[in-house]
Amino acid sequence: MRHFPAFLDFASRPALVVGSGATAQRKAELLASAGAHVCTAPRFNDALLSNCAVAIGADAPEMDLCALSAAAQARGIPVNIVDRPALCSFIMPAIIDRDPVTIAISSGGAAPVLARLLRQQIERLIPAAFGRLATLVGDYTAAIRRRLPDVSRRRDLLERLYTGRVAELVLAGDEAAAQQELHRELDRDPSDEAAIGTVFLVGAGPGSADLLTLRAHRLLGEADVIVHDRLVGKEVLAMARREARLIDVGKIPGRPCAPQETINDLLIRLACQHRKVVRLKGGDPFVFGRGGEEAAALARAGVPFEVVPGVTAALACAAQARIPLTLRGVSRSVTFVTGHTRDGVLDLDFAAVARGGGTLAIYMGLATLPKLRDGLLRHGVASDTPAVLIENGGTHRQREQHGTLDSIATTGRHWSTGGPALLLIGEAVSPVNASRTCGSAPGKRFADLERVTGIEPA
Ligand SMILES: C[S@@+](CC[C@H](N)C(=O)[O-])C[C@H]1O[C@@H](n2cnc3c(N)ncnc32)[C@H](O)[C@@H]1O
Repeated sequence: MRHFPAFLDFASRPALVVGSGATAQRKAELLASAGAHVCTAPRFNDALLSNCAVAIGADAPEMDLCALSAAAQARGIPVNIVDRPALCSFIMPAIIDRDPVTIAISSGGAAPVLARLLRQQIERLIPAAFGRLATLVGDYTAAIRRRLPDVSRRRDLLERLYTGRVAELVLAGDEAAAQQELHRELDRDPSDEAAIGTVFLVGAGPGSADLLTLRAHRLLGEADVIVHDRLVGKEVLAMARREARLIDVGKIPGRPCAPQETINDLLIRLACQHRKVVRLKGGDPFVFGRGGEEAAALARAGVPFEVVPGVTAALACAAQARIPLTLRGVSRSVTFVTGHTRDGVLDLDFAAVARGGGTLAIYMGLATLPKLRDGLLRHGVASDTPAVLIENGGTHRQREQHGTLDSIATTGRHWSTGGPALLLIGEAVSPVNASRTCGSAPGKRFADLERVTGIEPA
């Protein structure tokens, strides 16, 4: 380690920023946000340094920056000249500010761009409200110490506050409820270990980890146990923390699977044993995912639960295939239906579906393609309506077969390689419509662009 990391207290201390550009101004604002009394000057002279706790130079003539560096170092004042490591006695890290929590990243001056990229990645993982959580819990430090003199019990409680229900409520923006929950935690008998955990019904999206929501990503990293379906990919499960227990309750078509009631009971039992249980489902938990049944069972059992949405297959498939699900003048609605049969019967209101027009997204329809086609044809949908079958949508293995309602119903089963597949039907699906652009001539459009936005065409 070439540089020693430390957090300095500049509150009410004089700080000098030499320079007159945007960078100098940003540094002055940063120092001011840490409570320093900032003096800014476009040029350097020695008198400016008197009593200074820190000095920074940027956007100033070379001779001023060199003089500032030499004079500050001669007086033992920490000095940083932006982008000039040889003139610095300290380097500025990339900062993530979740006041009172501050995270600083340094590459020792070797790779500042990499440090900035790392900061962006970490920033995404730490919600902005984290600081408010730290402040809320910090306000109770003395009360917690009085209530739990035993260090390990105190640490357990603090961990529960930072990762449990209180944290969730703060991050959801409900600080009043978080405070109430914090009081409940404080009032609880310390020997009562049987406190019930929370179950999170989380949408895992179509399979690619970068299509997870940030909330799903965070919960996966915090969960004690993750109960997941077959469709949830390895890439997503890799987000779990190493100590987490993974339970596969996947349903493989045609094979015996855990009945839904068993999964419901499992979630309730796990919530009695663990603080954070994640029930991870492909796509969105409330779109053909039986998330509603699990939510109802948890509610009946008095288990706290939350639902985290995910990117459902229809949206992921359409986006990657560049197919607009609605399109002005072509399709004004999207209908999600399932082609799944119950006891061999396709229980679909074809009349309503056909009347709706727009785009039809059919989940679990591969096995019943001919029945779906026949039902739609009987209710007036044309056999040459554009259709596309999409397999492994939203992942790097996505495949598409374009055709018509009739041709896809005939060939789809043979084309499939066994991955999850979704059928989209409707005029918007047609490659002709999908590639349609605004009808007016480019010259007119660019003129409009300039008039409306003030941006000149390139
Ligand atoms: C039980 S449903 C679950 C749907 C999921 N909850 C969602 O919101 O996407 C499973 C069906 O969703 C569709 N599906 C799920 N993931 C898919 C993917 N990556 N590509 C295409 N279709 C997919 C298939 O029709 C599959 O049979």
